[in-house]
Amino acid sequence: MTDKSKAPVMPLPRGVGTSDVHGRPLQDLRISVMDRCNFRCPYCMPRETFHENYRFLPAAARLSFEEIVRLTRLFVKAGVRKVRLTGGEPLLRSGIADLVGELSSIPGVDDLALTTNGVLLAQHAARLKANGLRRVTVSLDSLDPEVFRRSSGGFDGVERVLDGIAAAREAGLEPIKVNAVVQRGLNEDCVLGLVEHFRGTGVVVRFIEYMDVGNRNDWMPDRVVPSRELKQRIEARWPLVATAASYRGEVAERYTFADGQGEVGFISSVSQPFCGDCTRARLSSEGVLYTCLFATRGTDLREPLRAAASDEELLARIRGTWQARDDRYSEQRKALSRKRSHKKIEMYYIGG
Ligand code: GTP
Ligand code: 5AD
Ligand code: SF4
Ligand code: SF4
Repeated sequence: MTDKSKAPVMPLPRGVGTSDVHGRPLQDLRISVMDRCNFRCPYCMPRETFHENYRFLPAAARLSFEEIVRLTRLFVKAGVRKVRLTGGEPLLRSGIADLVGELSSIPGVDDLALTTNGVLLAQHAARLKANGLRRVTVSLDSLDPEVFRRSSGGFDGVERVLDGIAAAREAGLEPIKVNAVVQRGLNEDCVLGLVEHFRGTGVVVRFIEYMDVGNRNDWMPDRVVPSRELKQRIEARWPLVATAASYRGEVAERYTFADGQGEVGFISSVSQPFCGDCTRARLSSEGVLYTCLFATRGTDLREPLRAAASDEELLARIRGTWQARDDRYSEQRKALSRKRSHKKIEMYYIGG
């Protein structure tokens, strides 16, 4: 297995690969490998909807590893260089490390990352690394056990998540990022605690503005805490210095601590949309390709895959979908969110 942990990600020059109607190249593929999750974060899988009898996808509906690998090779042909595995919770998919091993061996996959809630990370970290995973991003909204409990939908697990992060560091799954979704009145007071805890450890905390993903999370604009406000609060205690993006189209705005103790990031899809540089395609666990996190429909790749389509046919479908892409939801949020007919895909299904 090749260790790609040090190799830089080399985006294709514009004009090569596949571009959409706004000239945005297809560069990233986010693959949801599992629609289930062991959390019930109210902003993603509210318990009232995702209860014991909720019908998740049957195993046969999910793409097999073989299907995922075949599609990923084709996405790479279409221009993809970065792959991220998501869920639901990707570590609930059995054999996930085997899939990582196969994906990391595909020539052209320069970056392979995984987003997890961290609870099962300690038991998987070493194997994931050994099989070629480059890095992990862990979702963690608060270090306060009571707030964590509420934001995860009733789970007591801060310590397990922290153990998972420690195991990931030990395994070298770096740089490790921690994503915290901030909601007014829920965890806004936990922000400084998260910064303080991870400053100086090499772990990069990024604060995400609460978004209106899907239709089930009762999103309200007044629950969004603008990044500007968080930055001021953090800066009052630890002066920050604006830092350049590490690659074109990076969603997080980066700031380093003036005292050299690392960096924090802000993902401000509500107050400062970043659709202009969005190069991300999303594949659901049942094989539907979406060209936006807020999409209302996607392109089924599983059907042709299982109907013995050739690589050329599948590649044409992938390229054709991307070439027709006109999405820029965050920039059009006000107008689109007023439309009742705008039925969006759900976060648990597409993995953020
Ligand atoms: P890096 O490669 O580490 O820079 O990852 P990333 O920041 O692109 O991906 P990550 O999954 O860590 O993104 C963090 C969060 O930002 C996601 O969970 C989403 O909430 C949000 N996000 C990522 N990509 C998009 C996007 O294309 N549109 C919007 N609106 N939000 C996004
Ligand atoms: N707004 C912003 N981020 C969200 N996430 C899930 N739902 C939302 C939302 N409504 C984040 C999770 C995780 C990633 C997969 O997406 O916290 O970091
Ligand atoms: Fe699970 Fe992540 Fe959704 Fe929370 S945000 S319910 S951890 S998939
Ligand atoms: Fe990309 Fe859609 Fe997010 Fe805009 S709203 S950045 S087009 S995923």
